[in-house]
Amino acid sequence: PGLNVLAQRAGLHYFGTAIDNVVLDNKQYISIARNRSEFGQVTPANGQKWMYIEPTQGIFNYTLGDQIVVPATRAGQLKRCHNFVWHNQLPAWLTSTNWTKSALIGVLENHIKHEARHYYNDCYAWDVVNEAFDDDAAASLRKDLWLDTIGSEYIELAFRFARKYTRPGTKLYYNDYGIERVNNKSTKVAAMVKDFKKRGVPIDGVGLQAHYTVGRAPSYDDQIAAHKLFSKLGVETALTELDVRLQLPDNSTAQALQAQVYADSTKACLDADDCVGITVWDFWDPVSWVPDTFPGFGNADIWDANFTKKPAYYAVSDLL
Ligand code: XIL
Repeated sequence: PGLNVLAQRAGLHYFGTAIDNVVLDNKQYISIARNRSEFGQVTPANGQKWMYIEPTQGIFNYTLGDQIVVPATRAGQLKRCHNFVWHNQLPAWLTSTNWTKSALIGVLENHIKHEARHYYNDCYAWDVVNEAFDDDAAASLRKDLWLDTIGSEYIELAFRFARKYTRPGTKLYYNDYGIERVNNKSTKVAAMVKDFKKRGVPIDGVGLQAHYTVGRAPSYDDQIAAHKLFSKLGVETALTELDVRLQLPDNSTAQALQAQVYADSTKACLDADDCVGITVWDFWDPVSWVPDTFPGFGNADIWDANFTKKPAYYAVSDLL
């Protein structure tokens, strides 16, 4: 049995993967990606982002999103939809205009409305807002287009629009990295969730991206503590973008340490009662986002370039 079958037997809702459009013509890749025994859930790694969905204001293009979503549905896989609002991968028309607050709120609502309706029947969950908190010591809100023009209110507006236009029952998530242990950032996110719950702003989940580095990843205990932060607020969590990068060149010691990091976070998700599923941010090393973003690092995934399962794969499957 593959990872998804094992994960479901262990009580999780799914084990899934992100899939990028660039690799859709690779037959070996696709045979693994579409195998529901391995992956019961799929996230488009890029295809549903603003720059592709609304490349010109008011003109919507679902080609890249559909390339991932439609075959996943055919294969019986759940979809985590990603994302409505982010500071990255925005089209130039959006970032180069001096919007008034009310005009930008209108743009936000219109975008969510169209994309939510197009994927109305498709999404188990939507990452409504992605990475709104900064990496500064205080974990302030990120100074981006949204905060500058609308103010902190943009986050709750996005959640309200998402609830209005997505299918009832769609899980609405806040998604971020660096919140997999108790620190200033996860504390701020938890405070936001608590405030949303108190004021009736619709939120169902917190996505812990779980982009880790060998040697610097949170321990099992660290992660359990972070899960507790969220479970006591009555939201579910998921590991939404799990990968574990290592410094190149790769070697067997690094791969063993990497496997341990995969195992620790899988076990923490299994043991915590808020954590519904695990998504790896791609499963095949050559297509990982890591080398481009973190020069000198790579091989962050669970299948190597030859489509051989790595120690990390077996560490996860042994645990499940
Ligand atoms: C990454 C994609 O994997 C890359 O292909 C793209 O160039 C940049 O974005 N956090 C997120 C994801 O929420 O959307 C990012 O995906 C990785 C970091």
